[in-house]
Amino acid sequence: MIVSSVSNYSVGEIVAAGGQNVWFQLYPTPNRKVTRGLLRRAEDAGCRVVVLTVDTPVIGNRELHGTTLTELLKGEATRLGNYEGIRSGETIFDPGMTWDMVRWLKTNCAMQVVLKGIVTGEDAKLCLEHGVDGVIVSNHGGRQLESDRGTVECLPEVVEAIDGRIAVLIDGGIRRGTDIFKALALGADAICIGRPFCWGLAAFGQSGVARALDLLHAELVLDMQLAGVTSLSDITRSCLA
Ligand SMILES: Cc1cc2nc3c(=O)[nH]c(=O)nc-3n(C[C@H](O)[C@H](O)[C@H](O)COP(=O)(O)O)c2cc1C
Repeated sequence: MIVSSVSNYSVGEIVAAGGQNVWFQLYPTPNRKVTRGLLRRAEDAGCRVVVLTVDTPVIGNRELHGTTLTELLKGEATRLGNYEGIRSGETIFDPGMTWDMVRWLKTNCAMQVVLKGIVTGEDAKLCLEHGVDGVIVSNHGGRQLESDRGTVECLPEVVEAIDGRIAVLIDGGIRRGTDIFKALALGADAICIGRPFCWGLAAFGQSGVARALDLLHAELVLDMQLAGVTSLSDITRSCLA
């Protein structure tokens, strides 16, 4: 599970409630004292991986609920557990962030650093140069830069650039077992989901989240049986031919 910086409950509360193998997603604030506070909170909760989201220097053009989101993030209308006691109203996004942030993270926390929002081979190579431990090929579910490519289109060039040296994950539009199968076949080490668990939650609460995950798992197993592969490592590009 990757816990967002802007989750209602703090990462510590989520781990205490039974969250296992939790990673912490970071929106770095321009005020690095606040960022350091978030990192401490994640480390104290036992997180071993920090996921730095790099596609959100500012919020994208969310015509449907953009203003509401901005209002929410001011922290008045909803609880933002991770920021409690360490932030007083300043912005949570850093438009000035550069590659230097990776070095800053490595000197300011002991967690492994994964970059979320990598969509080109060029940036994947820069990740390797800067000592990043893993990447998530993501376009934020299409919620940031409009007209961006689908992540499955970006995946091959990122996989090629990374060349097996660090982990490559992908999210965006994973809705079926076949979507997982195709991502793995194109070289992803793992997939992530954003909206499907929210839909399960909205419809049936906690059991809906479990059901959404179970469906994806069951479909992947079925697809593997139909494709004639017996282990995840057997899902290779040749399956797509
Ligand atoms: C309601 C909502 C909130 C999100 N919040 C965050 C966030 O706080 N941090 C982040 O890095 N990505 C966030 N994302 C993007 C997701 O992490 C993920 O990249 C995207 O939803 C994946 O696409 P999918 O929803 O098609 O599976 C959010 C997406 C949605 C739909």
